[in-house]
Amino acid sequence: MDQINSDFLNSLDADDKKIFPYLPYILQDLWSLGSLSKYVVGLVKKHITTDQLKHVIDLGCGKGEVLVSLRKEFEFKGLGIDIVPDFIDTGMDKVHSHEFTHDLTLKTGDIKSYLGQLKDKDLVIYAHDSDLLGNVFETLRVFNSNMRSNSWICFESLYSLTTRDSENPDKEEFYDQVNESGLRLIDSIDWRLDDLKEMNDFQVTRIENRVLELVEKHPDKKELFLNYLKNQKEECQELENNLQCVTLLLRKD
Ligand SMILES: C[S@@+](CC[C@H](N)C(=O)[O-])C[C@H]1O[C@@H](n2cnc3c(N)ncnc32)[C@H](O)[C@@H]1O
Repeated sequence: MDQINSDFLNSLDADDKKIFPYLPYILQDLWSLGSLSKYVVGLVKKHITTDQLKHVIDLGCGKGEVLVSLRKEFEFKGLGIDIVPDFIDTGMDKVHSHEFTHDLTLKTGDIKSYLGQLKDKDLVIYAHDSDLLGNVFETLRVFNSNMRSNSWICFESLYSLTTRDSENPDKEEFYDQVNESGLRLIDSIDWRLDDLKEMNDFQVTRIENRVLELVEKHPDKKELFLNYLKNQKEECQELENNLQCVTLLLRKD
């Protein structure tokens, strides 16, 4: 699959594309793949009324956990896009089991091909977990130029809590980039450390079990699997100690 580039791998905290065929197996016990949907739902409930929310798109929806959680609270038509067909298949099973088939559709596709569809949406959901659309400023500019007036974006991202981070902006730089994007910041939630730790522990335990099964089945690929697990653990440590995850609600006026 030529879509397996470094941005895609970064979005799942992987660094070797040979792991790609095994990701559905390794991640089979997880529904959410890193978003904290309760923050998304909380911000939407607080600021957007039911009649303002008719059409929603989730770009990089994974297995659709955020869309399904939001649909439990609001009635809307939702479209989720993800590049991994297995995630979409599992997500559609979840959509069916929650009886939201009428309202939610998940499709395999590349986020970049769906930017033209943002004009019809009231809310865009996006987790900024790679440079697919650029840094924070560049990504929000892309959304600003594709969204229609009077619509919102729920944007998950992060900033660095240390000064020695060359990859991520610090808090001041992060909010400068947000403000310069032209979108209006309505509200934000700093992820609580206990929420983050709970999610990380849940996910790493399940990933570790599946990785160890794969090591048994394919001993020749032991290093590939164990490296993936090591990356996951390091990323969790980094998130818990040196980074602040945030969920923002922004509006295009
Ligand atoms: C960190 S996960 C978040 C998924 C979802 N928000 C959740 O928490 O369940 C990022 C998702 O983006 C998807 N992705 C990465 N690059 C993509 C692209 N170019 N087009 C569509 N999906 C992409 C990945 O397959 C992955 O499912």
